[in-house]
Amino acid sequence: MRVTSKVPGKCILFGEHAVVYGFPSISMAIPLNSTCIVEENKLNSIELNFKTINKKYEGSNLVDIEQKIPSNYSQFILGLNSLGNKFDIEIKDIRIELSSDIIPNAGLGSSASTSIALISAVSEFYGLNLKKADIFNFALEMEKITHGNPSGIDHTTCLYGNILFYQKGKPFHIVYPPDDFQVLITYTNQEHDTKEVISNVKRLKDEKSHLFDSIVDKIGFYTEIAELELVSGNYEEVGKLMNFNQDLLSQLNVSNETIDKINEIALKNGAYGSKLTGAGLGGCVITLGEEKELKKIAKIFKSQGYWNFLTTQDKNGAIATK
Ligand code: PMV
Repeated sequence: MRVTSKVPGKCILFGEHAVVYGFPSISMAIPLNSTCIVEENKLNSIELNFKTINKKYEGSNLVDIEQKIPSNYSQFILGLNSLGNKFDIEIKDIRIELSSDIIPNAGLGSSASTSIALISAVSEFYGLNLKKADIFNFALEMEKITHGNPSGIDHTTCLYGNILFYQKGKPFHIVYPPDDFQVLITYTNQEHDTKEVISNVKRLKDEKSHLFDSIVDKIGFYTEIAELELVSGNYEEVGKLMNFNQDLLSQLNVSNETIDKINEIALKNGAYGSKLTGAGLGGCVITLGEEKELKKIAKIFKSQGYWNFLTTQDKNGAIATK
């Protein structure tokens, strides 16, 4: 038997960082995918193959592999151990191959997407019949190792697809813009460390709590208005709100020169709005505008060495098939 799972990445349209503290956010699943293939292994061992980075680990059991695997991959072992313990199954004699088209450490959900791909495929392989809410819990536990205090927005978006209005601890809902909604995603060529950026923001909260509260409060307010403008198809207004959100993210000290430069080029060339997406201090920028303008801006970025991707939302979310 062979099971394949396919899970999209994501970008955050509004509300990153504020979402960690209970404020609303809007995110969009994007059609860059992580894939996990699980099949029987006739060699009586477990093989864990990280195909994208061309690294393979083999052992007689999970404890054996755990000793060989670098610590930055230990969340995958934790996920497999948790599944095994919860359902009282011994995970053995399988081949697991993980790959992803999503740039790592760039705010596009690569970590959430690969964790979900692993849990979806392995649970389908063992016939565990997990619901999305269960997969979410396993994958979020895995994320806590790399991330510290995840809000759950990445995992929810990668699991369910679409454009989501998300607030920690509350039911999320899908946001339906009336017309095609496209954003240009541009990579700054700088990896970021989400855990570190989140802890910098936490420090600001601890040291200047009034300032912090007023910033995240405004981010939450603009996010709520952004939802109304999105469903009304007022993309020019959505763009303005993105610019306001970017200003507030700068005040949280999570922007940098490259992000500011990319935003400036986008706005000078006719974009409605442009902001960082995800944790910031590197990673990616999202730009909104008319398709013609976005294509022109994409060419400019490409000529300056910035990878970019014009995209609409993924509507499938996580899928695992036999
Ligand atoms: O991992 P990133 O870069 O996509 O950041 C996730 C968004 C944050 O709001 C910064 C963290 C979170 O868990 O919501």
